[in-house]
Amino acid sequence: MGADFVMKHLLSLEKMSRGDMELVLRNATVFKRDRATHRKPLAGQTWALMFSKSSTRTRVSFEVGIRELGGQVMFLNANDIQLGRGEPIKDTARVLGRMIHGAVIRTFAQSDVEEFAQYSGIPTVNALTDDEHPCQVLTDIFTFQEKLGPIAGKVVTFVGDGACNMPASWIWAAAKLGFELRIAAPKNYQPSADLLKRAGGKIVVTEDLNAAAAGADMLYTDVWISMGKETESAQRIKEMSGYQINEALVKLAKPGALVMHCLPAYRGKEIDDVTFEAHAQTIFDQAENRLHVQKSIVDWMVS
Ligand code: CP
Ligand code: NVA
Repeated sequence: MGADFVMKHLLSLEKMSRGDMELVLRNATVFKRDRATHRKPLAGQTWALMFSKSSTRTRVSFEVGIRELGGQVMFLNANDIQLGRGEPIKDTARVLGRMIHGAVIRTFAQSDVEEFAQYSGIPTVNALTDDEHPCQVLTDIFTFQEKLGPIAGKVVTFVGDGACNMPASWIWAAAKLGFELRIAAPKNYQPSADLLKRAGGKIVVTEDLNAAAAGADMLYTDVWISMGKETESAQRIKEMSGYQINEALVKLAKPGALVMHCLPAYRGKEIDDVTFEAHAQTIFDQAENRLHVQKSIVDWMVS
């Protein structure tokens, strides 16, 4: 680490510059291509994953990725450490910051990840909060570009819960990378006017699912019931029913349009089984790419 080292975090796409996004996406290609032989920038380092919510992809891809970058990794279930008994984030952060070299955090409040970054003094990654899922959307864009070329000028249609973390990260990505984002969601599940105003860019929000899908280069969806929203399940299923990616909707998109899902998927709700299986190759390439893109994110943070 040189004298001109500046501490980097990935807390949100809102706070990430276009140039840094492009750098991470470019280098991810190298980490994917040279998986067996790439550099090991985390040699001698120990990173911690501190998770307050369930995870399959994020946990495994970060654990494998950190090891393949030459580092050691520990998984901390937030409920098993004193944090779960009420120890403040800023105290936990100051302890971990003296022992480990980087942290990957999945939690509820965005302010908790930001406070951790501020007090720990170590590179900190947002591995999903209620506000954003930046690692997922960077991966989705990498996957899109792998298959269809530059995303600038293209049309991405997000279907379903337009007010959760995934569409929020998509909004910032669209505004910064110059593609059109259409969000098809029921009135009560649309992004806030404040978010749309702050982000700018070409973002269309509508209840008209078919209009949003027409001519799109990609249809994208996420669960109707995000982690932490389980008590609202019945109401969400009622209001979001119909906001589904299925064969009829895919027919409205551009021929050869991609279908992606951040996973986990609930067939019969946000996507039907036939459509999911018809696009399984893309969806599981997308899941695999979490590994390569996150290595590139971590490398960017420590370089
Ligand atoms: N897409 C995603 O973040 O998956 P996990 O919740 O399994 O980590
Ligand atoms: N919106 C979902 C994303 C899961 C990867 C959630 O927060 O549960």
